[in-house]
Amino acid sequence: MSNIDNELIVKAAEYIYRAKNLIVFTGAGMSADSGIPTFRGEDGLWNRYRPEDLATLDAFLSDPVKVWRWYLWRISRLKSVKPHKGYNVLSRWYRIGILKYVITQNVDGLFIESGIDKVIELHGNILRARCTSCRYSSPIDKLDRSSLPIICPRCYGLMRPDVVWFGEPLNPSILDKAYQLARESDVMLVIGTSGVVYPAAYIPYIAKESGSKVIEINVEESMITEISDIFIGLRAAEALTYIDKYLSRYR
Ligand code: OAD
Repeated sequence: MSNIDNELIVKAAEYIYRAKNLIVFTGAGMSADSGIPTFRGEDGLWNRYRPEDLATLDAFLSDPVKVWRWYLWRISRLKSVKPHKGYNVLSRWYRIGILKYVITQNVDGLFIESGIDKVIELHGNILRARCTSCRYSSPIDKLDRSSLPIICPRCYGLMRPDVVWFGEPLNPSILDKAYQLARESDVMLVIGTSGVVYPAAYIPYIAKESGSKVIEINVEESMITEISDIFIGLRAAEALTYIDKYLSRYR
């Protein structure tokens, strides 16, 4: 770590130590250190697959088996994935009351697995399915997956992954809650998002306009960097571990 990085880490730890209302906002870069691919960038999912073939309602309705196969493949890859040490840091901050809420665009459920229960999953959760007819919702592993597409055990309708697809609105009450948390935050820690997908990308801007300090962790500059008070150009797991090391000196 360079001296510049070191100074930024110390400053970030100071902001976090003084925060009364720390909110974390994340994207796929947070899960990258656990081995889950991001969406954009060289190894990103949207470089290998076309979102319009797999992540829209039209694609699902025209070929639900193909879309389910892709989601079940992504779910199967999650089985061997564990929350990395950066998640452990955030989970500890949550337990001791430093971190108040997490808002994530990720659908992998890793925050919940790491023991943080105040999590807003803006884009849904890949481990759940919901019925397109009666809206019955269930964890995928409780459903019969022996033949595809998955059928609703209540009404025999078509079950779909419980995620937000391109062209679909976010749940308004979930989005309102996220905006409210952003307005009330005094420090927002933004981790691993390109900041190109709206309305999620408004969240750091709302925090900033409400007077919050914005700390960003990302391996490269993003659309959020222009409003970041501190930009830490490191991987999520590494940056969080360093910040935690300095934070523990204050406690
Ligand atoms: P992206 O793939 O657009 O961006 C990932 C960001 O993480 C980039 O800015 C990378 O530089 C950064 N990054 C990569 N590895 C990292 C690491 N180890 N540590 C820190 N940062 C790292 O993913 P999102 O911003 O999450 O939507 O994308 C937003 C939405 O677009 C997703 O929720 C998904 C996608 O289409 C839906 O599925 C609705």
